[in-house]
Amino acid sequence: MMKVLIIGASRGIGLECVRQYTREGAQVLATARSDEGLHKITALGAKALRLDVADPQSVSGLAWMLEGEKLDLALYVAGVYTQSGATTPPTREEFDRTMHTNVLGAMQTIPQVAPLVEEAQGKFIVITSGMGSIGEAESSFGWTYRVSKAALNMAVIAAQHDYPKALLLPICPGWVRTDMGGPHASISVEESVAAMRKTIAAMTAKDKGKYFHHDGRVYSSW
Ligand SMILES: NC(=O)c1ccc[n+]([C@@H]2O[C@H](COP(=O)([O-])OP(=O)(O)OC[C@H]3O[C@@H](n4cnc5c(N)ncnc54)[C@H](OP(=O)(O)O)[C@@H]3O)[C@@H](O)[C@H]2O)c1
Repeated sequence: MMKVLIIGASRGIGLECVRQYTREGAQVLATARSDEGLHKITALGAKALRLDVADPQSVSGLAWMLEGEKLDLALYVAGVYTQSGATTPPTREEFDRTMHTNVLGAMQTIPQVAPLVEEAQGKFIVITSGMGSIGEAESSFGWTYRVSKAALNMAVIAAQHDYPKALLLPICPGWVRTDMGGPHASISVEESVAAMRKTIAAMTAKDKGKYFHHDGRVYSSW
């Protein structure tokens, strides 16, 4: 039975990943930082683990919580958005919150989780954003968020070299109707996750170093 870990699964894309992978028959472990989030995960039949990715002490307990596991798939989904552009300097608080959640959390998670993914010769997929593409940046809208996702892409692609038996790749979920994407986004959370599941299932070692759209297209530039 496929074993899947989903990091940041209290709502939105992460919770939908729990729903769809559980329905597919996978054994799902999923994390949240609130009681409410943990309850939503267990209600879907998955095992819930408490984790705040922006708190290094909390993240340092992850390897212990996962001791002995072999993971066919790990998904890093947790993320926060910051709206302002380059005409307003980011506050230190906003910058730290965004970078700690989107980048530091992933960088602290990878060394703990990637060895468990290697055990199963599995995949470690990180949910990034097209807004992190330097080549496709058409405005500064979401400036700090863009910077964080560009940094996240580098973290993932660089880490691949240390975990050759696993596949580490970034994927953009599309513009999705969640709390973050808002009600006017172009696709539903069900569509986004269904498309990403298909794309992830088709990824092979020859895809190392690529940057994926949810529907399997590859970004032409970073
Ligand atoms: N929606 C879009 O259009 C879109 C587009 C491109 C990329 N993305 C990316 O997709 C991912 C999921 O986004 P979403 O749309 O599902 O957003 P969302 O509905 O706002 O959900 C964000 C998730 O991240 C979790 N999270 C935030 N900070 C955390 C922390 N410190 N520790 C643990 N979990 C934390 C939240 O948990 P809490 O409930 O505890 O806050 C929640 O589960 C993010 O990485 C986002 O950048 C989304």
